[in-house]
Amino acid sequence: MTTPIDPTTLDPDPIRQLEQWLADAETAGVPLPNAFALATADDQGAPSVRYVLLRGLDADGLRYFTYRGSRKGRDVAINPWAAGAFWWPTLDRQVRVSGSVRLLSDDESLAYWRTRPRGSQLSASISMQGQEVATRAELEARVAELAATAPEELPLPPMWGGYLIVPRTIEFWVSRSDRLHDRVEYRRGGDGTWNRRRLQP
Ligand SMILES: Cc1cc2nc3c(=O)[nH]c(=O)nc-3n(C[C@H](O)[C@H](O)[C@H](O)COP(=O)(O)O)c2cc1C
Repeated sequence: MTTPIDPTTLDPDPIRQLEQWLADAETAGVPLPNAFALATADDQGAPSVRYVLLRGLDADGLRYFTYRGSRKGRDVAINPWAAGAFWWPTLDRQVRVSGSVRLLSDDESLAYWRTRPRGSQLSASISMQGQEVATRAELEARVAELAATAPEELPLPPMWGGYLIVPRTIEFWVSRSDRLHDRVEYRRGGDGTWNRRRLQP
């Protein structure tokens, strides 16, 4: 049984509404409720999509972390726009976000880097995400070598860091009977305020 939504019943601030839905998904036991599909496009407009984890959400936008030389990193370096989609199956809810993308500062990336387990830091330090490698053994050897020589505090790799999606639209969707779904889209106006409207299913 899903809870219907209406522009007037949702929070006037879509970021707060998204926080609420993330909390609801966590309470409902959805695995990895902070995972979202992130779509980027290259200089030809050719899209690619993959899941990433939401690692921060506030009035500025949505934060995620990755290797900057990856496909998604190279895409946003030349085409700084992205879209994301969350889906929480047990709640029959979806949220879509679109907006511009900015690099987070090294300070902010470092602050998050320091919270990561050492194993994850080691893997991120030796991996040029998306580049070809002949064997898994080669990667494991690189990890072992670094683990043996690296200081206790691994430095932030130069090509690794965070991104901020600054949302322009955020859409909340909930499944309804006979596929007559509820959709509420927020669009940010030039003055920064959010306007809400119902969309057809
Ligand atoms: C649930 C889930 C969460 C993921 N989270 C991240 C993440 O936060 N950062 C990341 O770099 N890759 C993450 N990945 C791996 C990406 O989906 C992807 O394989 C990788 O980043 C390379 O993408 P690219 O070659 O398009 O840049 C995650 C994968 C899954 C399935």
